[in-house]
Amino acid sequence: MFAVVFIVVAFVSQTAARYSADWKSLDSRPLPSWYDQARVGIFVHWGVYSVPGFGSEWFWWHWQGQRPPDPRYVNFMSKNYPPGFSYPEFAPQFHAQFFNPREWADIFKASGAKYVVLTAKHHEGFTNWGSSDSWNWNSVDTGPHRDLVGELGEAVRNRSMHYGLYNSLYEWFHPLYLKDKRNGFKTQEFVMHKLLPELYNMVVRYKPELIWSDGDWEAPDTYWNSTVFLAWLYNDSPVKDRVVTNDRWGAGCACKHGGYYNCEDKFTPGQVPKHKWEKCTSVDTLSWGYRKNMRLSELMDLPSIVKDLARTVSYGGNYLLNVGPTPDGMIPAVFEERLRGLGAWLKVNGEAIYASKPWRVQNENTTVTIWYTSKGSSVYAIMTNKPPKASVQLFLPVTSATTTVTLLGNPKPLPWSPVSPNAGLTVLLPELADSPGQAWTLKLDNIQ
Ligand SMILES: *[C@@H]1O[C@H](CO)[C@@H](O)[C@H](O)[C@H]1NC(C)=O
Ligand SMILES: *[C@@H]1O[C@H](CO)[C@@H](O)[C@H](O)[C@H]1NC(C)=O
Ligand SMILES: *[C@@H]1O[C@H](CO)[C@@H](O)[C@H](O)[C@H]1NC(C)=O
Repeated sequence: MFAVVFIVVAFVSQTAARYSADWKSLDSRPLPSWYDQARVGIFVHWGVYSVPGFGSEWFWWHWQGQRPPDPRYVNFMSKNYPPGFSYPEFAPQFHAQFFNPREWADIFKASGAKYVVLTAKHHEGFTNWGSSDSWNWNSVDTGPHRDLVGELGEAVRNRSMHYGLYNSLYEWFHPLYLKDKRNGFKTQEFVMHKLLPELYNMVVRYKPELIWSDGDWEAPDTYWNSTVFLAWLYNDSPVKDRVVTNDRWGAGCACKHGGYYNCEDKFTPGQVPKHKWEKCTSVDTLSWGYRKNMRLSELMDLPSIVKDLARTVSYGGNYLLNVGPTPDGMIPAVFEERLRGLGAWLKVNGEAIYASKPWRVQNENTTVTIWYTSKGSSVYAIMTNKPPKASVQLFLPVTSATTTVTLLGNPKPLPWSPVSPNAGLTVLLPELADSPGQAWTLKLDNIQ
């Protein structure tokens, strides 16, 4: 009788487990499973910086923040704008007049992505929603006069994708932030009166399933009250059971604390990290935000995107690919083409990507570069260039008499023979149809 009561109590107290506001407890939270299965996401950097569309989303900082200012930005302003023109004057020109959230969501869906992350607020402090803590510096009071975060969220969710929000903790020029900074972050006026009220509101209002935190590095997590916020997020928020977070919650947190790890931008590990991670990268290799002066040679082409995705997924990562929309609300056609191309590739090869796990080895280079993934008892060999002959050798898989090989997108089993006993196989390939991403996947079953 006692034993039964004890077991019941133990069970109840375990299901009601609450996280405390310290890293040991917060880091013990299991990552909601949708995230690892999703594998591919789209990142969207959109804000007032899209209006000058020059350099990058760090425009304001390079022009007026850093000492000395970057002369390229100073010249750009003196050549193209009247003297005395200030950065906030760009906001009314953020018209978003062609912004059709359903069209965007159709493009993202067509890319094969399972989640979308929009910048709700970047380091400039402008919110893409009507934050009452960001008076006259938000997309409802000025510029588009629309709730960009809400409108996109509805369209994204309507197409069965998960919706996440990027939020910068610091704001380059917020007077309260600058005051706290002058005080060596011993005061928290910015955090108490601006950051936290706004962040709690954002979560309650939009129920993001992913919070992509950034701009944390100048101050420790204790300044940002990160652990207190995360304990609320995981215990009591409306998204407590499904929300995923990254690792940018204070100086020294990246790659160490939080939900999954981004480590640094465009993180590219050379082995499987011990903790779930995500590579964020951008089609425009020089910027996350829209640039009017981007050139084709500065963009990732589709084969390089697919290679990068295959590599990332082989190492157990998620791939978050960024596009920067124009201030008019258009996704530049060249980005749309990349995203649709990625989706066409995933339509055939997605079986090797979604919900896959790293295999015992990640890659090998024979006549082609091969990235391996696995799912259940199947192993996938993604060839990221075209084999020069009608056959390809894989040295790492160990075959058995019952091994079968197919090419994704092609129903017929392929003939194969062992390279030597217990080491590898030679696969005879059919004529390879042109792949949109110049990458083809072999599916190996009954292999070790
Ligand atoms: C998305 O919206 C369309 C049209 O408004 C509706 O018919 C459809 O059921 C919605 N789909 C989902 C998954 O909510
Ligand atoms: C911030 O953290 C301090 C202690 O670390 C706590 O006393 C305070 O209530 C927190 N405030 C908010 C708004 O989270
Ligand atoms: C194979 O080539 C890729 C791409 O150049 C490289 O990243 C990888 O380390 C190579 N693998 C081995 C086992 O040498």
